[in-house]
Order: sequence, then C-alpha cells, then structure tokens
Amino acid sequence: MKWVLTMIAVSLGVGCVSKNQIPAPDAAMVERSGQSLEILQQGHAIYMIQCGRCHEPMMPSEVSSADWHIVVPGMAWNAGISQGDEDAVLKYIMAAR
Ligand code: HEC
Repeated sequence: MKWVLTMIAVSLGVGCVSKNQIPAPDAAMVERSGQSLEILQQGHAIYMIQCGRCHEPMMPSEVSSADWHIVVPGMAWNAGISQGDEDAVLKYIMAAR
C-alpha cells in the first residue's frame, strides 16, 4: 500500500518530501527577516525552480549561513541567474533558516 502511494506521489511529481518541507515565505518570515514579502517570494520561486534543476533544493537550515554565502554565488553562476535573482535567493535562504 505504501509502495502504491509512493508511486502515485512520484507520478504526480510530489514524491519529493524535501521539496515540500522547504518553507514558503509567510508573514512570520517577513517579520523575522525584515525583508519584503515580494523579495522573499521571488527568492523562494527562483530557489525552487532554478536551484532544483541539477539537485534537490536543500533545506535552508541544513547549511550554515556562512556556507550559504559562499555556495550561492557559485551556484547562481551554475544556474545562470541574474544578480538580482541571486540576491533574492540569498535573502530568502537567510530568512528561511
Ligand atoms: C547546473 C547545475 C546546478 C545548478 C543550476 C545548481 N547547482 Fe547546486 N550543485 C551542483 C553540483 C554539481 C553540486 C555538487 C558539487 C559541488 O559541491 O560543487 C552542487 C552542490 C550544491 C550544494 C552543496 C554544496 C556543498 O559544498 O555541500 C548546495 C548547498 C547547492 N548546490 C545549492 C544550490 C543553489 C542555492 C542553487 C541555485 C542558485 C544551485 N545549487 C543550483 C549543480 C548545480
């Protein structure tokens, strides 16, 4: 039964548990981070779409903030995203962790 549910989930494209755990921007995140909802939503969207192309997007809390600051510029280059999108991704990740 569990197997069947997994297969259905995979075929619907919702098989990825880690993706579902990645927090979406909300009022609490805006409050904590002092960033606007718009920038957090932009960063979140870019993160899920662009940063999930080659590997599953990691939970923001799984990597230290110091490491994120090193990894994101390199990965933004990998992803070919604009400077503005890179900034938004980093702001989102910092707010989400
Ligand atoms: C073109 C493919 C590609 C894209 C797009 C991409 N990555 Fe990666 N990423 C990789 C590869 C390959 C590795 C493993 C090798 C490495 O660490 O360089 C990796 C590793 C990582 C790691 C683990 C690093 C470590 O040292 O443990 C993180 C975190 C990460 N990526 C975040 C991101 C983020 C954030 C984005 C979006 C801005 C992104 N990735 C987009 C290919 C990509």
